[in-house]
Amino acid sequence: MKNVREDFPYLERKVIYLDNAATTQKPNQVIEAIANYYRRHNANIHRGIHTLSMEATDMYEKARERVASFVGAKAKELIFTYGTTSSINFLANALRGSGILREGDVVVLTELEHHSNLLPWQSLKRYGIELRFARVDEKGVLDESKVVELLSGARLVSITGLSNVTGQKVNIGMIIEAAKKKGVLVHIDGAQLVPHAKVNVEGMDFLSFSAHKMLGPTGIGALYISERFLEKLEPFFVGGGMIDRVTLESSTYAKPPEKFEAGTPNIAGAVGFAAAVDYLESVGMEEIEKHERELVQHAIEEMKKLDFVELYGPLDERHTSIISFNIKGIHPHDVAHILDEEMGIAIRTGHHCAQPLMRKLGVSGTCRASFYLYNTKEEVDVLIEGLKKVKEWIG
Ligand SMILES: Cc1ncc(COP(=O)(O)O)c(C=O)c1O
Repeated sequence: MKNVREDFPYLERKVIYLDNAATTQKPNQVIEAIANYYRRHNANIHRGIHTLSMEATDMYEKARERVASFVGAKAKELIFTYGTTSSINFLANALRGSGILREGDVVVLTELEHHSNLLPWQSLKRYGIELRFARVDEKGVLDESKVVELLSGARLVSITGLSNVTGQKVNIGMIIEAAKKKGVLVHIDGAQLVPHAKVNVEGMDFLSFSAHKMLGPTGIGALYISERFLEKLEPFFVGGGMIDRVTLESSTYAKPPEKFEAGTPNIAGAVGFAAAVDYLESVGMEEIEKHERELVQHAIEEMKKLDFVELYGPLDERHTSIISFNIKGIHPHDVAHILDEEMGIAIRTGHHCAQPLMRKLGVSGTCRASFYLYNTKEEVDVLIEGLKKVKEWIG
């Protein structure tokens, strides 16, 4: 893989950043694209006929094309949102509001899900929509056939492509195939999958992801809506920028995708998102996945040698990019604090927005190290040394 580290100014801070599942660092190319937009092209889009507005509109729409093509979608099938959480809230409410999800319909989820792929569906229970859950084992591992078993009679399955806690890359191909056979709609929570693997929307009905977890800025994400739902789906947000004709009594809407994007969007964010996608493709998604898998496998191998470390997740070839662990008898916050203070290592601790999964693992929280393309094997080795020191000092 090409040497990417020189593109990342955060490395001037001498930090070992292993909190990529929460948010990633940004390369100069993304920072520059955003700054350049604000310096030279800033204007509101779609409504102006002056030069700056036309330039900004062009940049925004080109960004849409770019991000859509990254996941194999058509530009009109991709709407910009504020991130994965906003995409899933939009989707759940729009599906219900359009009558695609109705009273008595069943949505299949799993125990692995991030709160952002749980609460929006829970909020539909007041409309009589039912939830069914595929359970994981005591190490937090999902057997995809358990999801398949629950699909009969369901209307939608909404599942993460890669767990933000256990690092399990879910076999979504198997779930999509079974769902198609049974006429079940598929939404993939791609917040962790899209940044770390090559993804194509083929077979999916909906896909959500966030720019900030894939080198882009915060405050922007995407929702892929398969072409066959673009007309049927009613917008959830309404207001300026998405209309055709408005009277005091009623309104008609613009064509998709504008119909789904009410208000002034995050234009600079879209430009930065496209620059991030350009950057990732210049490195190559297969290369990135291979690199992260090597890092995580190395971490697993080394951590298995430490008898005071408890590991979660599949720990086999399904395991990529993220590792959750605990040092027996030491609170995760204490581990993270010492690693940060003494060694400049940034990891995350807590429930990782997955309280049901924590309950299944029988813990209140875990330590989580999550990798990206700029991390190195040497950094993993420093983490392992750090864990030994924590154990020595307070174990
Ligand atoms: C699997 C998963 N889904 C959804 C989200 C929510 O993403 P965001 O906070 O960008 O909306 C996250 C964030 O950590 C995640 O890991």
